[in-house]
Amino acid sequence: MTKSEIEAFLREVKHPAKQEADIVELGIVREIAIAPEGVTVTLGFPKRGEPLQKYLVGATRACLIRHLGKDVPSEVKTVALEDAPRPEGLGKEMLDGVKHIIGIASGKGGVGKSTVAVNLAVALARSGCKVGLADADVYGPSVPTMTGTEGYAPAGEQINGKDYIVPVEKWGVKWMSIGYFAKRSQALIWRGPMASNALKQLILQVNWGELDYLLIDMPPGTGDIHISLVNDIPIQGAVIVTTPQNVALADVEKAADMFRHENVNKPVLGVVENMAWFTPAAHPDEKYYLFGEGGGAHLAETLGVPLLAQIPLVQDIRECGDAGEPAALGSGPEAEAFLALAATLKNSGD
Ligand SMILES: Nc1ncnc2c1ncn2[C@@H]1O[C@H](COP(=O)(O)OP(=O)(O)OP(=O)(O)O)[C@@H](O)[C@H]1O
Ligand SMILES: [Mg+2]
Repeated sequence: MTKSEIEAFLREVKHPAKQEADIVELGIVREIAIAPEGVTVTLGFPKRGEPLQKYLVGATRACLIRHLGKDVPSEVKTVALEDAPRPEGLGKEMLDGVKHIIGIASGKGGVGKSTVAVNLAVALARSGCKVGLADADVYGPSVPTMTGTEGYAPAGEQINGKDYIVPVEKWGVKWMSIGYFAKRSQALIWRGPMASNALKQLILQVNWGELDYLLIDMPPGTGDIHISLVNDIPIQGAVIVTTPQNVALADVEKAADMFRHENVNKPVLGVVENMAWFTPAAHPDEKYYLFGEGGGAHLAETLGVPLLAQIPLVQDIRECGDAGEPAALGSGPEAEAFLALAATLKNSGD
């Protein structure tokens, strides 16, 4: 009997409260060990407790006896999730050559996280850094469109017998997104744990090589995906993107709290105020504060972190995003804003 055969029959154990998803798919099976003394299966449960833990342990035990017979000794162990061994092939070794891993986050959708992440990546590359960007929005990936790399198919490669993904390279930046693996029209309807696992693969199973910065474009919100991401990826800190409105500030504070939670304990490196003011293309010196003024500075002060940049709302930034040619590649005030952000981030780190 091999590990994969055992894993295959363990899929018969379904989680009654999770739409009948099985314990392998849900990542509850953390380790299968085969020794002369018998078979040991380790199940991982969240430290805060899992109401159906007893049931799942019992069902797993019964499943082992059913398939292995009574003569093969088998044991089911449990482990609190933070201490669980990680699934095979998902070590952190691919991040060994990465100096800084920074999450670009916001509690709210549509504030411009992806725009800031993509342009910051390009700006850092223009200033001589080695940069990668992982699009962590597995439900609505936008990096392929924003970088004009839709339809690119990343290659695979084997290192020491393990499979890795080669990131897409353009403008000196290494890009990775679930969008490279799914058709544009194909809705990505995944159950939470599957989405989390896919996401981890998109970061941990990619051959990033040597990087000064790996930026992670986080999906909106502060749900399970985020918590699992900040727990499993050695993120150094977060850059919080906000628009100047008060409504956005409340959500953004929630996102900051997520990183600062005692179990996560990652610093917020600073705030980027996006769409800080509107500047019409024909009047580049004018500023209209459509969403109020000073919201970013106020948030930075509340969080006790620096305001890293104010990015204006300009038509060009959206058009460049839609056209797959980030504004930071060009010249003019919007490119300057992103280059200045890159410079500030470089000076604040190390
Ligand atoms: N400074 C800006 N000036 C003009 N348009 C902008 C600016 N920032 C973002 N946009 C536009 O706003 C829209 C939303 O931006 P973006 O997709 O980057 O937000 P997001 O926070 O990543 O959204 P989501 O929460 O869906 O991931 C896009 O059409 C983008 O081009
Ligand atoms: Mg986005």
